[in-house]
Amino acid sequence: MVTILAIESSCDDTSAAVLREEYLLSNVMASQEVHKKYGGVVPELASRAHQQNILPVVSQALEQAGVSVKELDAIAFTRGPGLLGSLLVGTSFAKGLAIAIDKPLIEVNHLQGHILSHFIRIEGREHREPKFPFLSLLVSGGHTQIVKVNDYLDFEILGHTIDDAVGEAFDKCAKLLGLGYPGGPIIDRLAKEGNASAFRFAKPNIAGLDYSFSGIKTSLLYFLRDNIDENPAFLEENKKDICASYQKDLIDILLKKLILASKQTGIKEIALGGGVSANSYLRERVTFEGEKRGWNVFLPEFRFTTDNAAMIGIAGLYRYRKGLFAPIDVAPISRAADYIQY
Ligand code: KG4
Ligand code: ZN
Repeated sequence: MVTILAIESSCDDTSAAVLREEYLLSNVMASQEVHKKYGGVVPELASRAHQQNILPVVSQALEQAGVSVKELDAIAFTRGPGLLGSLLVGTSFAKGLAIAIDKPLIEVNHLQGHILSHFIRIEGREHREPKFPFLSLLVSGGHTQIVKVNDYLDFEILGHTIDDAVGEAFDKCAKLLGLGYPGGPIIDRLAKEGNASAFRFAKPNIAGLDYSFSGIKTSLLYFLRDNIDENPAFLEENKKDICASYQKDLIDILLKKLILASKQTGIKEIALGGGVSANSYLRERVTFEGEKRGWNVFLPEFRFTTDNAAMIGIAGLYRYRKGLFAPIDVAPISRAADYIQY
């Protein structure tokens, strides 16, 4: 029975988890409130907060799991993509611990973690997981991709965004509306009370399975500018309808390419992953489309949608089983495009 300690520090959440085989024993998270007043993640403050959080978070994860460091078989950590200074904290900590207990290090691609979160098991709970090959709609703050997952460690990117990620499109809208950060959950909540047919924004016209979200963001910007020019109270009077309409357009864009990918590949096993997969309207629409099209839909548990170490642990487990260990001089990789092993 393999016991893995996993560490995630790619952005603004410090997290540690312990897994025994596929079973999750603990998953501890420290979110960083410090960024809220800046309306976005400040990299320098993020690495400083990771440094403060990492030891208590790891200790708590081990304690909650009832596992001592001596019982660990390996240390998995997020190598990238993410903020370099943040990644460095997790990477250095993982290395130090691996050296101290003389156990192997496992590097994990953060995006693979999001995709594989469906394989995490909880003791005593019924488990459902996608069968290979499946399609993963990976939607986060930094990435938007449709990935064909052939096996635990065999991924093919079928489509990706050519500019902004969908999470950014949510966050930027929230910023324009003066709603705070991160914007996705706030828009999700306000949209529930708004009319999604009130307004329409420019939809991209991109070939194949790729996405684009910069046009719709600009369209929202001009829409607000023009309407506020005419009526300074426009934003206040229409906030909920704007959120509902903009959210509907974003989800329409996501769904259109996902449906096309399923048609082109004939794959009906559909899984969501990443922070935006917490969006209630996206979950509703994918479930609805799934019923209509005979898909087997897999929605991640809420706590596994945004960044967490449990998903790094499960991805690490599959690398452990193949003996894919990282050298001790392994360095973080900030940009997704530089990650050759995806
Ligand atoms: O996966 P994640 O935690 O970090 C990255 O790897 O990027 O994703 C964060 C993103 C943010 O853009 C946040 O606004 C978005 O996920 N998000 C949501 C919701 N919850 C988080 N977007 C829409 N609706 C939500 N409920
Ligand atoms: Zn993420």
